[in-house]
Amino acid sequence: MTLRVGIVGAGNMAATHAAGWNEAGDRVTHILATGSTRAGSLAADLGAELSDSYEELLAAVDVVDICSPTDTHLGYVEVAAASGVSVVCEKPLGRTAKEAQEAVAICEAAGVLLLVAHVVRFFPEYSVARDRVVAGELGDVATVRLDRSTYFPVGDGSWFGDHERSGGVVLDLMIHDVDYARWVAGDVERVYARRAEPTGSGGHVLATLRHRGGALSHVQGSWAFPEGSFRTSLEIAGSEGLLTLHASEPFSALVPESDDVSAVPQPPTTLAESPYVTQMKHFSAVLHGLADPIVSATDAAAAVEVCEAILQSIDTCQAVTLGGAS
Ligand SMILES: NC(=O)c1ccc[n+]([C@@H]2O[C@H](COP(=O)([O-])OP(=O)(O)OC[C@H]3O[C@@H](n4cnc5c(N)ncnc54)[C@H](O)[C@@H]3O)[C@@H](O)[C@H]2O)c1
Repeated sequence: MTLRVGIVGAGNMAATHAAGWNEAGDRVTHILATGSTRAGSLAADLGAELSDSYEELLAAVDVVDICSPTDTHLGYVEVAAASGVSVVCEKPLGRTAKEAQEAVAICEAAGVLLLVAHVVRFFPEYSVARDRVVAGELGDVATVRLDRSTYFPVGDGSWFGDHERSGGVVLDLMIHDVDYARWVAGDVERVYARRAEPTGSGGHVLATLRHRGGALSHVQGSWAFPEGSFRTSLEIAGSEGLLTLHASEPFSALVPESDDVSAVPQPPTTLAESPYVTQMKHFSAVLHGLADPIVSATDAAAAVEVCEAILQSIDTCQAVTLGGAS
């Protein structure tokens, strides 16, 4: 069965997800976006309708895919769950840990699927590294180092720069590696973080995460690098081995050279299939009952909780223990 997908938002991620749904064999039939100059052309390209209201969109689709600014996610999740419509939602699941936890609880109570787009889990180099950890090839993991350093994104409007709406570099960018660190080394019990704001940049943050199992993660997220650059790295060290990965090519080797700089940075890949497409194919398989979610909604909420602790540590210059204790 081809799924009918309604997308909320018509910006960078809406277009990226739409391409993925097409590749998955599903069909974006409806789009709802407020204040967008791109919604009409995106809908026309996809042969989709522009919905006048969210209720109208929900009545016409099998799944809603929320690609609007972060502070709007919970509101859209709530109404979809009340209508019994399955939800895909861009990360972060909520602007705050409370919002993210509410989204999880509401979808659980309504019995609707909530799939959150933590795309790094679909980059094969990252998932293979994690498979090796799970298989015990690295022994007991002691340290994890993750870096995601790029330039300040340009969205539809100025919401990325509005901390109240986006949560800044921590909630918008660093959350990818916070989720990955939890996936590899488990729950986080304590964080310490510092932020620098080189003039004109969107901020540069380094956080250390102490995992309950004893491992230590060192996570850097930066919007202070030159336009067009995107550097990622991964290093996992355990009692039996060390695994490293560094990627800094700005464009995929398989994609024709281009001088265009993406408004919103996306990590470099040399793969024939974009991990964003792999991710949407996975969501489609889950929605068809053919696979279990690789990212649980509770994991997505836990990543927001860790990011919130990182923000608190930056504000207070103190280590923060999750769960409220000091
Ligand atoms: N996974 C990733 O790699 C990645 C990358 C960038 C952004 N994101 C996340 O995706 C989400 C969207 O980011 P983006 O880059 O597409 O932003 P964007 O600014 O390019 O697009 C946002 C879209 O939402 C629309 N919009 C604004 N307010 C709305 C509202 N109240 N209701 C409906 N539509 C509304 C805007 O008109 C615009 O079309 C954010 O949560 C962001 O954190 C994820």
